[in-house]
Order: sequence, then structure tokens, then C-alpha cells
Amino acid sequence: MKYFIDTANMDEIKEINEWGVLAGVTTNPSLVAKEKGISFHDRLVEICELVGGPVSGEVIALDAEGMISEGRELARLHQHIVVKIPMTAEGMKAVKVLASEGIKTNVTLVFNTVQALTAARAGATYVSPFIGRLDDIGLEGLDLIEDIHYIFTLHEIDTEIIAASIRDEGHIHGAALRGADIATIPYKVLKKLTRHPLTDKGIDQFLNDWNSIKDQ
Ligand code: E4P
Repeated sequence: MKYFIDTANMDEIKEINEWGVLAGVTTNPSLVAKEKGISFHDRLVEICELVGGPVSGEVIALDAEGMISEGRELARLHQHIVVKIPMTAEGMKAVKVLASEGIKTNVTLVFNTVQALTAARAGATYVSPFIGRLDDIGLEGLDLIEDIHYIFTLHEIDTEIIAASIRDEGHIHGAALRGADIATIPYKVLKKLTRHPLTDKGIDQFLNDWNSIKDQ
């Protein structure tokens, strides 16, 4: 399972990119709205050039014609752009047209297996099931990852599964075990991924032992 970061913030992307673990980036209109005073298109290009992997930028239109025209415009910005399309009937029409033009799409706001299969059949490059938002309503978001992975494997579908709406390390562990191709992870969760209390304790112990003999 690869890691994407789920943000439009350059400082967050730069910091995590330095770890060498980032394969791509996803944004959405809410994340872009947090970045005051930026040009959406300029920011997408900046991210593409820094990360050198797939960068999802979402369309705002709700009708297929509008999504297609926004999608083409986004795709022209950079070779790494992936057009994020909401999971609707209009969205499927847009995915079909964009896919026929060789434009990659990420179908977002997926909450069940049938939506995922439908998006894949329309030609989506990626589907994004939202784990955390399912947990929020009392369901088991990770079960959806397992079920989509099972169906895609059974039917030899190569659309990639992006585990989205990640809230904690448990989601990352669970998504990896259940066959997600990618997890798109918020900065604050990524920051926890190197940490374990026994690692900290071990480092302290090694340093103390070293310091106790170094002047002998
Ligand atoms: C996915 O691409 C979305 O940007 C994202 O993961 C949404 O997560 P949220 O439920 O934390 O807003």
C-alpha cells in the first residue's frame, strides 16, 4: 500500500515528502479552501512538480458537461494531475469521456461496493472509499475496503483503491491488511507514523548507556 497525503498545504507536503514515503497527493475543495489566498491551479502545479506523482484536484461542477470541461482544464495543467469526480450519475458520464481521452480520474465520496464497481466500470483510475465518515455513522469503514478489494480481485478490475477519510494509524494498518492500493492520509496522522513509546524508551536507554561509558 502506497501513501498519499490528503492536503493542499505546501509546508505539510514538503515536510512529509522529505521522508521519501510520498507517492502522491489528494486535495478536495474543503482542503483548498483552508489555504487562504492561493490560486488553485498554481497550487496543483506546484504540488505536481514537488512530488512527481499523481495529484488529485476536484471539479466543482455537478453536471457532466461542466465536469468534463473543468477536468480537461485541470489535466492540461500537468501530466501528474488526476481529476477528482464525485460519485454521481453525471460524474460517471464525465469519467467515461475523460477516460476515453486518456485523462486519469479519482471517483470520490464512495460509500459502498456498488458505487466502487460502477465507478470502475465507467473507467475510473482510482476509487476513494471514505472510511472515517462511515465509522462516524456507526459502520465499519474498513469492511468496505476489504469488500471492494475482494470484488476488484474477483473480477480482475485494475482500478486502484484509495482508502480515504483516514483518522488514525489503525485505519492505515487496517487498510493495508485489507488490500487498499493507497491510503491518503492527513498530515497530523502521518506525523504519528514513526512513533512508538518503546522506540523513544529504547533511544533514551541506548543514549544513557553510551554516555555512561564514553569517558572511560
Ligand atoms: C479524499 O480524497 C478526501 O480528501 C478525504 O480523505 C476526506 O476526508 P475527511 O472525511 O477527513 O474530510
